[in-house]
Amino acid sequence: MKSIGKVNLRIQRFDSKTDSAPHYDTFEVVTKPGMTVLDALFQVLEKNDRLLAFRYSCRSAVCGSCAMIINGHPRLACNTQISTLSSPIIVGPLPHLPVVRDLMVDLHPFFQKTESIEPYFQSREPYPEKEFIQMPKDRAAIDSAIDCIECGACFSSCPLTWTDPKYPGPAALLRAYRFIADTRDTAKVQRLRAVGCEDGLWRCHTVFNCADACPKAINPTYFIQQLKRGATKVSMGIK
Ligand code: F3S
Repeated sequence: MKSIGKVNLRIQRFDSKTDSAPHYDTFEVVTKPGMTVLDALFQVLEKNDRLLAFRYSCRSAVCGSCAMIINGHPRLACNTQISTLSSPIIVGPLPHLPVVRDLMVDLHPFFQKTESIEPYFQSREPYPEKEFIQMPKDRAAIDSAIDCIECGACFSSCPLTWTDPKYPGPAALLRAYRFIADTRDTAKVQRLRAVGCEDGLWRCHTVFNCADACPKAINPTYFIQQLKRGATKVSMGIK
């Protein structure tokens, strides 16, 4: 780990209310061991520019709020160590989403896709007297899919979401898989029919950008292929 030193942080700046094009501002940041990109952004905010805009919340790589492009790759600012990056560190917002200000993007297009797959349990009555039982092996089968923190990195890196506004994108399809494969959910067939529509999972060209972008090392491409298999079976009447 590098000891105390200095790095340059080049940050993309843009205010959708006043600017016609983005530009970059460079700030010198004093580093210390264990410092993250999010720490560096706070230093700039406190010492250089009180108007710098960025999102964060948990600082634990759980909420997904601080996803941004760091040295050309989607990462979470809160768990990206300064010591692992070459200077200048170039920071910008997630691409292909409307920029509100600086590093803050409008995530509505992303969350609308998640809403479209009905991201909540559906089950038939009669309900069990106590909890819905699930075997450990069945839970293990969806462990990875459940790890998604909805940061939007995969969505903004998928070329199909750039070109087809109706395509749900990798995160929404991953969320759909999470319910389809969950033994407690009873809407499997309806869900597979819904995501198997013309603008649905078949639009995925297995580009793998989503897997490359995911800061939680989830592979949405794999789960989309599982959905394609399930949707094919449903369309052929195979159980
Ligand atoms: Fe997009 Fe991932 Fe498919 S990048 S095209 S959802 S493999």
